[in-house]
Order: sequence, then structure tokens, then C-alpha cells
Amino acid sequence: MNYITEIKNLKKEKNAVILAHCYQNIEIDEVADFVGDSLYLSQMASKTDADIIIFAGVYFMAQTAKILNPTKKVILPNIEAGCEMADMINLQQLREFKSKHPNIPTVCYINSTAEVKAECDICCTSSNAVKIVKSLNAPEVLFLPDKNLGRWVEKRLGNVKVITYNGCCPIHDKFAPEGIKDTKYKYPNALVLAHPECPENFVNLADYVGSTTGIMNFVKNSNSKQFIIATEKGVLDRLKRDYPNKHFYDINNNPSICQSMKLITITDVYNALKNETPEIAVEKEIADKAIKCINRMLEVSQ
Ligand code: 13P
Ligand code: SF4
Repeated sequence: MNYITEIKNLKKEKNAVILAHCYQNIEIDEVADFVGDSLYLSQMASKTDADIIIFAGVYFMAQTAKILNPTKKVILPNIEAGCEMADMINLQQLREFKSKHPNIPTVCYINSTAEVKAECDICCTSSNAVKIVKSLNAPEVLFLPDKNLGRWVEKRLGNVKVITYNGCCPIHDKFAPEGIKDTKYKYPNALVLAHPECPENFVNLADYVGSTTGIMNFVKNSNSKQFIIATEKGVLDRLKRDYPNKHFYDINNNPSICQSMKLITITDVYNALKNETPEIAVEKEIADKAIKCINRMLEVSQ
């Protein structure tokens, strides 16, 4: 069976849309309607008039799409696809964190559970985190779960104290400054493009810091020909595909892979669309609170 043709037919028949994160296996792009970073995908989820949303990404992304579309079917083709960072803070840990620092606005990264979002003031993604924190006009904010993104926002703003929770993305947190030095030694003309989930001492050495889409746009608009890409391998794969005349390198020739992001296959997408399962559900009481945190982000990001 040609899964790609079958998926395209099923999409039309069922009025379904496929959203794919740019860390997904690259073949998913052949059937996806929209491919991009977390902000772009949540914006697309908030605007779609499809009846079914197939989310090729990880759990918190599909959960966010469901909260934005309570009456639609939202399907995550492999229900095991979670996010290690999102799982680093639960409701109890959030409440403890807030009680240690009372009366301070709380910003959660979109990489968090619906329960956590339900008790935060606003959420953000890597592409709008600076704008979101700034929009609060507060001298101090609590930021969770990603300490690295929080540090980066604090540095970019300069006049806001960002109190971070001690979470991180285990994939990005591994990037070390020595890796940049060694790779730059081999490719001295290459620009270093890094995701803000990387540690502070790493992003300090990068030429550009931004979300997955931000990194891809930087390459698109740059006259440079060589780039060292410090984020998950999916971005590097897409850059190599889209810019065959440019050169892209991993740090130390060692690709960083988020195993969770790679769980979904074309066969999973086909089965998800055909059987309309596994469906995401969010308890109404939690969804009603979490939507405020998500909508507030979308309003500020317009
Ligand atoms: P962005 O796509 O928003 O840059 O986020 C990266 C990520 O880690 C998604 O899980
Ligand atoms: Fe989560 Fe990191 Fe994987 Fe993104 S790359 S889904 S933050 S574990």
C-alpha cells in the first residue's frame, strides 16, 4: 500500500489536518499540511476548521491543540510520544515552587502539562518567550520548567529577574561550549545557530539563538554557506534537504536525537487517521483554566 497516497485521500475524505513539528521524522513532511515550531503549530491549531487534527509531535503539543479545539478530534499517532522536560514538573512541584516565591507572575513554557498550564498566568514558546515575559511588565517572574530558556530570556531583557525552576531538555542541556570550540576549529567560517534550550555558557558563544523555525529562517535569510546547528537532528535534516548548496554540521559530528519525537512513523499516521485513535482528552475543568494561559500567549504573539 502507498501510505502517502492513502493518507492524502483520507485527509480529504475526513476533513483532517496534519500538523508536524520540525523534529519529526522527515518523511512525515510529505503528508503534513503545516510543519514548524511549537508556536506556529499552536497558531495553526487555533485557526483550523478541520474536524480532525492529527498531531505529529509530542503529547503536550497535541494536548494544547485539544484545549484549543475542545469539540474536535485531536489524535497523537503514537501515544508514547512524551516530552521529558514537560514531565519534570507536576502540579505539586509547581505549587511548592510558587509558594516559595509568592505573588510573582508565573510563565510556563508550552512544554508543560495541561495541569501545570491551568495554574500559570501565561505560557510561551521558545520563539516568543522574551516578548511574553516583557508583556507582563513585572520586575520578577517565575519561569518553568526550562531553566536554560529562562536564563536566556533574563539576559535578553536585562531588567527582569527571572526565577527559574530547575528543569531542562535533556537533549539540549548536553550541548557544551567545548563542542562549539572543537567544531569551529574544523569549520572556522561556519555560523553557530543554537536553540535557547541549550545551556547559558553554550548560547553565549552562538551567532544566533532562536526557535526551530527561527533557526531555519536565519539560514534562509543568510548569505553564509556554512552553519553549525545546535538543536535536534530534525532541523538539520530539513536544512540539508531545503538548502543543498549550503553546508550544515552537527556539534562534534554527533547528532542530537529526541527519541520521543522520532516515535511517529508514516504507518502510525495512516493508522491514526484511519482508526481515529489514539485520541487526546483533557478534563473540562483543567482545560477551562489552561485555555486562559494559552490564549493569553496567542493574543500577545499576534
Ligand atoms: P520550538 O519548536 O518551539 O523551537 O521547540 C522545540 C522543542 O523542544 C519542542 O519540543
Ligand atoms: Fe521535550 Fe527536549 Fe524532546 Fe523537545 S527535544 S520534545 S523539549 S525532550
